[in-house]
Amino acid sequence: MSQPAEKLDAMPDEKDMKDIVALCKRRSFIFAASDIYGGINGFWDYGPLGVELKNNLRDYWWKCMVTTPPIGPDGHPVQIVGVDSAIIQNPKAWVASGHVGGFSDPMVDCRETKKRYRADHIVVLQPKDGGEKWIAVMEDDDEFMEKRLKKVAKGKTAADFDQVLLVDLDTSDYAKVLAPDAKEVGTLTEPKEFNLMFETFCGPIQSEDNKAYLRPETAQGIFLNYKNVLDSSRVKMPFGIAQIGKAFRNEVNPRNFIFRSREFEQMEMEWFCHPEDAKKWRDFWFEERMKFWEAIGLAGSNLIKRDHDDDELSHYAKEGLGTADIEYRFPFTAPGFGELEGVAHRCDFDLTQHQEHSKTKLQYLDTERDNEKYIPHVIEPAAGLTRGVLALICEAYTPDPDRPSGVYLNFDPKMAPMKAAILPLTAKDGHPEVAEKLYMELREEFAVDLDIKQNIGKRYARQDEIGTPYCFTIDGQTLEDNTVTARERNTMAQERISLDKVAEYLREKLK
Ligand code: GAP
Repeated sequence: MSQPAEKLDAMPDEKDMKDIVALCKRRSFIFAASDIYGGINGFWDYGPLGVELKNNLRDYWWKCMVTTPPIGPDGHPVQIVGVDSAIIQNPKAWVASGHVGGFSDPMVDCRETKKRYRADHIVVLQPKDGGEKWIAVMEDDDEFMEKRLKKVAKGKTAADFDQVLLVDLDTSDYAKVLAPDAKEVGTLTEPKEFNLMFETFCGPIQSEDNKAYLRPETAQGIFLNYKNVLDSSRVKMPFGIAQIGKAFRNEVNPRNFIFRSREFEQMEMEWFCHPEDAKKWRDFWFEERMKFWEAIGLAGSNLIKRDHDDDELSHYAKEGLGTADIEYRFPFTAPGFGELEGVAHRCDFDLTQHQEHSKTKLQYLDTERDNEKYIPHVIEPAAGLTRGVLALICEAYTPDPDRPSGVYLNFDPKMAPMKAAILPLTAKDGHPEVAEKLYMELREEFAVDLDIKQNIGKRYARQDEIGTPYCFTIDGQTLEDNTVTARERNTMAQERISLDKVAEYLREKLK
């Protein structure tokens, strides 16, 4: 998580994660996986509305990448095709990609409390006055820092200390560190690497020979199909291959709701180009990806660009132009930001590795460049689908004491799980029949909710809480003059429109 370069307006304090998580459960967006067994850390299920929201984000990404890809610098649409590769691949692929050897986080254990922490998430507060006890706190949790200082360094504040990341300490310094929750100093071990790959076995015998891995990123399934796609489709350099799907990482510390989980979904595109054009395409894709998130409602000061520092770069990006992240200000990172998407220059790392390990030639013969043979460079916009869902929910969450629900979800209509609700004022007097007829007319074109039970105030409240942009109410007057009340979610403004113009009204509003 990064801190803002300049002071920006903090996200409204009233966006409390506890309330957001509670709404997600109450209104069937997101549930803890295995909820009735007490859940399982790092895994989440998407309920009836959550899956609609996730599918809307997924489908919009696919549309923007594969169905109607952007117009390139030459004024023509760029070429991108899709794949859907297996989650389990030949384990040799993960050796080649560097994941088996190097996809790890540095971990420290506390000998006293038996707790395990990510070393690069622990900050050590070193007393400025030269005092001997150094206090360890979690990097992105100010509340925890304050509580801990109150407990173990009475009268002192964070300003009395210098901050150092635990991974930067010399061996001798560990003896002075008071671990989180520990009573004695010096209980933390030095960092050891912990691999994040989920292992499994193929077939009935659980031996080393049958070991396989759940993919930790969708990207490798694209590299593994690069040659098949080139040989079987009509793409030419430069071009992209896109994939959306599940990824699995045995995260040491899954946290912040669905932000960092052990099973999640990614939306990745690998853009193959001539090495000389890498910079042009990196800049192009970065702009396009910013536009994407803005188009679905994450605009403004909550969305920023951040270039990776050299020491943050992944093994595959070290030689190239680096990585730039698109970051969002989540309530739990504010006033800082959390990564939503990275746009990386992966150079020719992956294809070169797979060429060497698989002994399959992956060079491209470029007839447009005098038959030059080269391994293309790759620009990779890699976004989190489930993390994107969280950003959409956090952005949309709008407390409003002036309405019965006290809150509404201000989704961009493209993303809203339901585009409209049809609400007969009462469950009698012919209202439900008219409502159902309207529902049957609209449902072919729009995701609409026909909601008949409960009083109208409660039904409006529910629609506000699930972020439905429009409600149409059928009442006594409808039977007399064929008009309905159209209610707009954000303003709560109501107007009468003709019953036979509802589809047109909605089409116009959702354009
Ligand atoms: N192929 C490159 C790659 O996987 P990454 O930065 O590790 O890069 C890309 O992941 C995106 O996937 C991140 O920007 C984030 O949105 C999402 N992501 C990564 N780890 C995640 C996790 N544990 N839980 C949820 N989303 C995650």
